[in-house]
Formats: sequence, C-alpha cells, structure tokens
Amino acid sequence: MKKEKNDLMEKIISLAKRRGFVFSSSEIYGGFAAVYDFGPYGVELANNIKKEWWKSMTQLRDDVVGLDSAIFMSPKIWEASGHVKGFSDPLTECRKCHTRLRLDSLIEEIGVLADEKMSDDEINQIFDANRDKIKCPNCGAQDFTSGKSFNLLVQSNLGSFTGDWTKDPVYLRGETCQGIYVNYKNVLDSTRVKIPFGIAQIGKAFRNEITARQFIFRTREFEQMELQYFIHPSQTNEVYNYWRDVRWQFYLDLGFKSENLKWHQHENLVFYAKEAYDIEYNFPFGFKELEGVHARGDYDLSCHGKASGQNFEYLDPKSGEKFIPNIVETSVGVGRTFLAVLCEAYHEENINGEERVFLSLPARLAPIKIAIFPLLKNKPELVSRAEEIYHHLRLKFRCEFDDNGNIGKRYRRQDEIGTPFCVTFDFDSLEDNMVTVRERDSGEQCRVKIEDLEKYFENKII
Ligand code: GAP
Repeated sequence: MKKEKNDLMEKIISLAKRRGFVFSSSEIYGGFAAVYDFGPYGVELANNIKKEWWKSMTQLRDDVVGLDSAIFMSPKIWEASGHVKGFSDPLTECRKCHTRLRLDSLIEEIGVLADEKMSDDEINQIFDANRDKIKCPNCGAQDFTSGKSFNLLVQSNLGSFTGDWTKDPVYLRGETCQGIYVNYKNVLDSTRVKIPFGIAQIGKAFRNEITARQFIFRTREFEQMELQYFIHPSQTNEVYNYWRDVRWQFYLDLGFKSENLKWHQHENLVFYAKEAYDIEYNFPFGFKELEGVHARGDYDLSCHGKASGQNFEYLDPKSGEKFIPNIVETSVGVGRTFLAVLCEAYHEENINGEERVFLSLPARLAPIKIAIFPLLKNKPELVSRAEEIYHHLRLKFRCEFDDNGNIGKRYRRQDEIGTPFCVTFDFDSLEDNMVTVRERDSGEQCRVKIEDLEKYFENKII
C-alpha cells in the first residue's frame, strides 16, 4: 500500500514536470532546495485556485475586504508577534553525512507522532530518549548532533548599506497575516466595515524550512491565502464553527471527495490560540495539514497595540462598548492546495489495453478549458476554419490550438493537463458547420453547431 502511494506521488511529480506544471527552481544549476517554479500550465492552475478562493472569500461576501501588504515590513513587527524569539523548528544534523533533519520528522519515522504544536523542548526530549532507534534517512548513521531550535524567519540585508546587517536584519515575511494585523486600523478608518468583518490576503511567505521533502507540500518560498476575521470576544464559538463549515465546504465545492478530508484538532495549542483545527488532506504520503482554522483570541492586536503604542480598541457604534477584537483565522497555502488538487484529479484507466492518464479537474480550475484541433495539419481549409473558431472562443475562455500529431495523441496531451473539452474541425464540418466536441472524463463525443459553441461552453464551464 505504501509503495503504491509512493508510486502515485512519483507519477504526479513526473506529470507535473513533463506537462509544464511545476519545475524545480534553478534546475540548470542543479536546483535550489525546497523552491519550485510554476510552469505555463502550473501558473494557470495556481491562478485559478487563487481566483476561486478570492471570489468566495471576498467577492461573494459583504463582510470581507481584500488587502495586498508588502513582503518587507518593519522588523519590529516580527519582534512584537513573537516570531523572532519563538518561530522555530527543532533541528539536528547527521554527523556522518551532515544532512540537517527536523526532529519531529525523525521521531515520526519511529512511530512517535509529534503534534505540530509540541514545544521544541518536548520533541528534543523524545528524540534523546529514542536515539538508539533513529537512523539518518540519508546515510543510515545513528550519530546526531544535539537538538536545537532553528528560527524559520528568512533574513535579508534590505536597506543595510554598511556594517553587519545580520545584527539588525530585515525579515522576509514568515506569514502574510501580520500585514493584515498592522493594517487593521487603516482598513477600519478608510472603509465602511464594522465588526464582525474580515480582511483577506493572498501573498508570498518565506520560511527557512529545515527539511525539503514531499515536493511542493513544504517549500521555503510559498504563497498563503489568509483570512483574519475580527469579532467581539463573545462571538468566538459561533464564528469559529461557522468558518470551519465554510472552509470545509470550499473543498467540496472544488470537487474534493469528503473521504479525502478530515479534521485534526490540535491538542497542544500555541500560547495565543484558543482553539485550532486543521483540515487535513489524504495526500499519497498520508493525511497531512492542508489548512489551519484558528481562534487566535486578542493576541495579535494586543501585542501590536502594546509594541506600537497604538490603541486597537474598537468602539461599538451601537452599544458604546470598547474592546480589543478577537480574531478567527483561516490560512492555507496555494502550493499545498495545488498539490491536493493534482492528487484529487489524477486518474489512470485502461481502455482496450491502452493506458490513459487524465486530470479530472473541475472546468473552473483547468489551465486550458478548450483545445481546438483541425483534423489534419496539411489541409489549409481545415486549419483556417479551426483557427477561426480558436480566435473566437479564446476571447471568452482560455483555449489552446493544436495541429500537431494524430488526434489520439492530441487528446492524450490535453487529458494529461486536464482540459475538459476538445473541439475537432473535420471534413464534415466543411459541409454541416458542426464540430466534434469530446469530453475529457467520459471520452464521449457529440456534434455541436459552430454558431452554438460559445453558448454550449458557457453552460458547461462555470
Ligand atoms: N498565519 C498562520 C499560519 O501561517 P501555518 O500553519 O504556519 O499558520 C498556514 O500555515 C498554512 O500555510 C498551512 O496550513 C499550509 O497550507 C501553508 N504552509 C505553511 N508552511 C508552508 C510551507 N513551508 N510550504 C508550503 N505551504 C506552507
């Protein structure tokens, strides 16, 4: 079973590279650990995932506004938030091959489940007590340095032109939500929002992750889609349960099977959290965190209020009550959702001895919605009419024109990138002004009038 799942992961990674979804960063120079690039189809899929999230979290709601804060922020923010002191993972190094390893992953290998929110000290103690059972996954040695906390914030020399910038570093943001907290008052003062309301943001975050494994699941540069929802403290339970339901439904709406999702409640809460659940997805390497839904109390606004000297109290216009808003957060990575979407969509089937691989992506997420083919490349009358259809449809839908190779080969290619519809202009089309539309998952074909195509797809691609 484990091997089958490993094979599945290998197949997905191979397809992602072969078909231009994901490339290793800096590949021609030997790669760059835990950093990836999205290729031509990858960027389309990632953009579609972000579009769906943004639409459901802002556009379709009256109570959430958007924000795009900068990646670079005052280092004071990371001190006030506790990241400079406490944003760390426990690390060891193999003395033989010098591979750096996360202690929580090492103890997991011997069956001790390290809750992500366990303290570094606790994990260290478990590691020390089990040293004789733990082997370096790289070289098999059992000789490790003593465990230590490793800060995950990525430092830069921005604005430092002289001297030793490492003493006074500027950080690349480790999570996008800090940009939301520090703009809370700006948003409140410049828009008509009233509590309860939310601020949503999509943007890059950077972490010095120790281990680079599992493809794009955990990377050092990644994008987050985060919502911070500001509430009266008395609303916490109701609002928290509400957002848990909303976020769960988001994945069902994207076509995820409910059996591939489950809730994981954090038993050891980080010091500020009141309640924390993760939505886990059944990746080929097991159920792992996809998204976190956290009740953060008033920790964030209180610590930034204290450190900056700003008054973050909210004055309720109706009751006249003053309070520091509490926050319910939903936070998910674009890359992690992307991987889950690929895993969910990957299908193999064997028809009459012939293997077919296809990505059963919902049309909304598919990088290309419609591929348009002339039956033969060397028949100008077919090519020009197919091109006409392509130029018309691409005004509305993301389309691709392909006249390369036989039709079967073109179908296979589009199947592997998850294109829901292929349109073929053939010799009959010259007579009847109809084309063949072939549906990806079923392989079923039907004839559609060229003049009806736009309407036909409008109904199918929603
Ligand atoms: N603001 C809260 C926060 O950042 P988190 O659990 O550290 O919480 C939230 O991260 C989500 O961001 C995760 O559930 C995951 O989807 C994504 N994420 C975190 N670290 C990541 C990494 N190194 N690579 C890819 N995605 C990551």
